[in-house]
Amino acid sequence: MKKAIVVGASSGIGRELAKTLAENGYVVGAMARRLHLLESLCNEIKGEIFVQEIDASDTAASMGILTRFIKEMNGVDLIVISAGTGDINDKLDWHIEHETIKTNVTGFAALTNVAMHHFIERGSGHLVGISSIAALRGGRESPAYNASKAFESNYLEGLRQKVTQLGLPIIVTDIKAGFVKTAMAKGEGLFWVAPAGKAAAQIFNAIQLKKTHAYITRRWRLIAILLKVIPASIYERL
Ligand SMILES: NC(=O)c1ccc[n+]([C@@H]2O[C@H](COP(=O)([O-])OP(=O)(O)OC[C@H]3O[C@@H](n4cnc5c(N)ncnc54)[C@H](OP(=O)(O)O)[C@@H]3O)[C@@H](O)[C@H]2O)c1
Repeated sequence: MKKAIVVGASSGIGRELAKTLAENGYVVGAMARRLHLLESLCNEIKGEIFVQEIDASDTAASMGILTRFIKEMNGVDLIVISAGTGDINDKLDWHIEHETIKTNVTGFAALTNVAMHHFIERGSGHLVGISSIAALRGGRESPAYNASKAFESNYLEGLRQKVTQLGLPIIVTDIKAGFVKTAMAKGEGLFWVAPAGKAAAQIFNAIQLKKTHAYITRRWRLIAILLKVIPASIYERL
């Protein structure tokens, strides 16, 4: 039986993915700050589930917590980092920028570091990061959020290159999500908003296929192509 940890399993994409993994026979380890939501997830999952509170923005503590949780589950095959934050920041409030950086940059790197050490030690594994289409360009609504997602995608690429050189069968998957109907989907002008269940199903499919990259939902590949070709002089005015 396969075992997976989902960090950020209390709501949204991570919660739906935890359920999808359990439905497909995985033993699931669910992590986030809101313990009551993780406990309610236990009632929605029929299979075996482990639960652990974690605050990804508290780097020193979270690395130890994830390490111990992996040991408690006697090792895992798959670790998904869905934990993330971001807010519309019209006034460029430093508090919002800092929280985003602490969770999505420092927190993300710290947790993937623990995950990679675990997989390298056991000689195999699968790391999945839930990045965003926002990784492709800067964004005035939330500069730290777009930059943090660029960091995540770039960091995952670095980790993938590292394990390729080591010759280990460790898969690193970069999920670039478009809009998904969760608390994170904020602001006006949202389009192609996918239900979280649909996003989770497509992410699970990418995991099964051991993909290195996936756009969620798939049609967001078209927006990615567009974003990549728009010249900066035009993009800055949009
Ligand atoms: N929804 C979208 O349109 C969209 C688009 C592209 C990418 N994404 C990405 O998808 C991921 C999941 O977001 P979502 O859309 O599912 O929104 P969500 O429902 O708000 O889920 C965010 C998850 O991250 C966890 N989290 C946030 N800060 C944390 C921290 N400091 N420590 C531990 N866990 C933390 C939350 O749990 P607690 O609050 O309980 O800790 C929650 O489980 C994020 O990385 C987000 O950037 C979302």
